[in-house]
Amino acid sequence: MLSKIQETADFLLSKIPTRPKTGIILGTGLGNLVTQITDKIEIPYEIIPNFPVSTVEGHSGKLIIGKLGNVDVLAMQGRFHYYEGYDMKAVTFPVRVMKALGIEKLLVSNASGGVNPDFEIGDLMIITDHINLFPEHPLRGKNFNELGTRFPDMSEAYSKELIAKAKQIAKENNIKVVEGVYVGTTGPTFETPAEYRYFRTIGADAVGMSTVPEVIVANHAGIKCFGISIVTDLGVPGKIVEVTHEEVQQIGNSVQPLMTLIMKELIQ
Ligand code: HPA
Repeated sequence: MLSKIQETADFLLSKIPTRPKTGIILGTGLGNLVTQITDKIEIPYEIIPNFPVSTVEGHSGKLIIGKLGNVDVLAMQGRFHYYEGYDMKAVTFPVRVMKALGIEKLLVSNASGGVNPDFEIGDLMIITDHINLFPEHPLRGKNFNELGTRFPDMSEAYSKELIAKAKQIAKENNIKVVEGVYVGTTGPTFETPAEYRYFRTIGADAVGMSTVPEVIVANHAGIKCFGISIVTDLGVPGKIVEVTHEEVQQIGNSVQPLMTLIMKELIQ
């Protein structure tokens, strides 16, 4: 694993002229932020050594290196989901590579189903904490001390400083944000009403199929994290309706510009 990380990092270092300290992982269909990146170099995942091979036809996504405002960034447009069949080492491999490239802060976005009855469709939820319900832990197996400690602390998995700044930015720009706990589960099914109720009972505000593995590995690697979720549907008793991927994407699209604004300002 160590030599693979190094090989991939060396490949990318040979291609990129800058040394970004900020990494971004954009949820599927949440690529709006990328349109704001200037002076950019795009590298499709297919040509990056050791990157997971896509399970879907066509594009699996790309790395975009460039500037947001005057800050150097490295963005992943599209991520690897556990439900696609990758093991957790593959899902989180890009975060290992980011660390090897010198990334110090990681911003992540996703879509989720709200289980907090106060939430509304289209809300932006700043992730304050998470619950890991994936059946495989990304750090299971031999620990490499070069990458991080055996038993990582998770008391501030999402940086309080970045959360406070994001809230301030939202306030200044009149953007409604909510805060909450994200529970990560495998999918690919959306939840049954009983499962939504269960997630609410155990302390979640929203449920989704990503983010938790990457944030665990980032914490292991000493990278500060910030996460924001677009609530695309509601798993709240009385409000549960049929959910489709298309609707999730549509709501995601309509709220993206606000999320982009918060992330861009935060990065500045
Ligand atoms: N459940 C899980 N993942 C999701 C949902 C949901 O309701 N909406 C968007 N991603």
